Amino acid sequence: MESKQRIGVLFVCLGNICRSPMAEAVFRHMVAEEGLVDQFLIDSAGTGNWHIGKPPHHGTRGILDQYGISYEGLKARQVAATDFSSFDYIVAMDVQNEKDLRQLAQSTHAQIVKLLDLVPEAVNKEVPDPYYTGKFEEVYELVSRGCAALLERIRQEAQLD
Ligand code: 4NP
Repeated sequence: MESKQRIGVLFVCLGNICRSPMAEAVFRHMVAEEGLVDQFLIDSAGTGNWHIGKPPHHGTRGILDQYGISYEGLKARQVAATDFSSFDYIVAMDVQNEKDLRQLAQSTHAQIVKLLDLVPEAVNKEVPDPYYTGKFEEVYELVSRGCAALLERIRQEAQLD
């Protein structure tokens, strides 16, 4: 039997406790609903190192609980040099994350994209940081739309079974 490489998707924000773990959990949930779990490698990381080892922020946990989405086992980590060879899509939450990622990436085959650039109707192309705004519901809605658009983009570009 031929074995195909998994498609690697890494979500990145600043702290890896609010936005990117929410995106990871929502994307995992969508991929599971579509029966595509075996075809993906999904993770998240932060450009900063303050929260390494911590679970998602209680605001992120609260909203995911509300929507019945698991965040079991998620723990913050920092972006590593090896991420640029392990993942195919590196998905930034805001323009600063994207800038930092492009600076960290020496050379990479990965596509570095900003999540809301994938959503044509999104007026604001950045996922606002709920660590400062407290608006976790707004972030959930943006992240959900972005993740749906990302899955659609990957469907167009990759050969999913
Ligand atoms: P996140 O939010 O990037 O969405 O995880 C933040 C979490 C923590 C900090 C900043 C942003 N912080 O400065 O500790």
